[in-house]
Amino acid sequence: MQSIDEASAAFARVEDWIADYFRDTRRYPVLSRSRPGDLVAALPTHAPQDGEPFDAIFDDFERLIIPGITHWNHPRFFAYFAISSGRIAVLAEALAAALDVNAMLWRTSPAATELEDVTLDWLRLMLGLPDAFHGIVYDTASIGGFTALAAARESLGLDIRARGMAGRADLPALRVYLSPHTHSHIEKGAIALGVGRDNVVTIPADDDFAMIPAALAQAIDDDLAAGMRPMCAVATVGTTSTTSTDPVAQLREITAARNVWLHVDAAYGGPAAILPEFRWLLDGAHAADSIVVNPHKWMFVPVDLSVLYVRDLELLRRTFSLIPDILATPETDGRNYMDYGLQLGRRFRALKLWFVLRSYGVSGIQERLRAHIALAQELAGWIAREPGWEILAPHPLSVVCFRHVPAGARDEVAIDDHNLAIVDIINASGEAFMSSTRLLGRVVLRIAIGNERTTRDDVALVWDLLRAAAARTPAA
Ligand SMILES: Cc1ncc(COP(=O)(O)O)c(C=O)c1O
Repeated sequence: MQSIDEASAAFARVEDWIADYFRDTRRYPVLSRSRPGDLVAALPTHAPQDGEPFDAIFDDFERLIIPGITHWNHPRFFAYFAISSGRIAVLAEALAAALDVNAMLWRTSPAATELEDVTLDWLRLMLGLPDAFHGIVYDTASIGGFTALAAARESLGLDIRARGMAGRADLPALRVYLSPHTHSHIEKGAIALGVGRDNVVTIPADDDFAMIPAALAQAIDDDLAAGMRPMCAVATVGTTSTTSTDPVAQLREITAARNVWLHVDAAYGGPAAILPEFRWLLDGAHAADSIVVNPHKWMFVPVDLSVLYVRDLELLRRTFSLIPDILATPETDGRNYMDYGLQLGRRFRALKLWFVLRSYGVSGIQERLRAHIALAQELAGWIAREPGWEILAPHPLSVVCFRHVPAGARDEVAIDDHNLAIVDIINASGEAFMSSTRLLGRVVLRIAIGNERTTRDDVALVWDLLRAAAARTPAA
């Protein structure tokens, strides 16, 4: 693509392709039908010696890459947390790539840094969070959670930044508290930060899959009595399997009284607080030390864009800042976000958030969130009314957990197998893609609604497929 004309023709072809993709995503099987190694076998083992024409590359994109795509943007993608990229955000991504900005320092693109400040402040206000919080964009909630844990460790004043942890007799065991339903990235963060899995304490949850506050208080007190150092407790707003929410306000009281960092993982559930009727989800999070919210989960912003809000920005800077001579900047410059995390290079992610917030407006986002929640409630109603089907968890948001129990079936293992067979049939059909998980050891089917193009017909279709699959699948 040496010439401007060649590039224009290529852009036009891609533009047509994307428009067509959004017009009719349903034509694709949701879950890719690729087998392991298919693409590797179809591609040469070496890069081409000489450049190839765009049309040849794009033909292969359509012929070889697309069959290996699982269509997260398909309206019947109901697995994990369903997501969607708003069309406008695709344009922002193209512009960000064209500019190829590295937002590591303020001066390496003042607009990138300042747009991040502005959009994250807009989002903070939309979520009803106080202005004590300052937001920073990271790629994922996993990295935001890791960053919060690192700040929590720094806040202990144990000089770990300088002296490390190994071989130090003066260092107590550092403890992290979570529930059986906390996302696994917290435990990974504890591993990476030298806390160790043995020091990750699982606090029991109640029948609604929410952490039991008294058990957290007891665990922290026991650890303190044993000479350990509680470092961080994690509350989740919208857990991965069921979307349960921990009693954040109570957990905050307990942690504040014991001077323990409270991190709130609102990666999925946070955006629901944009709705006045779900503002309560972040009650108590207002007083947390750090909060993660993922616009790339349920705010129509394509992967990746996650936000970490922290109360003590200076502490976060102290945790990570290390400035080589080549990156030194005058005091008069704006804030350098390379100082607030592991990575130096940073994509211009705020651009897509800005495009989405301006194009949808708060009301457009609210309308879509409400529609998803309403569809999930309707689906839950159909399931609850159908003989042989049971709802297995509260479903306040856009996820429903359920299973099918064939008439007369008693053997729980056989019921598990029966439900796993149902999910396999749905996913092999190409018509829809959904997840299964386990709750209290039992297999659970799970439908997550979060794509802005999902309609009631899409949900009705998967429900028809589920009933047909259950009828076809033997009970044992
Ligand atoms: C509650 C929760 N937190 C964190 C994550 C991790 O998100 P990310 O992929 O942005 O790291 C997930 C993933 O689904 C999640 O469900």
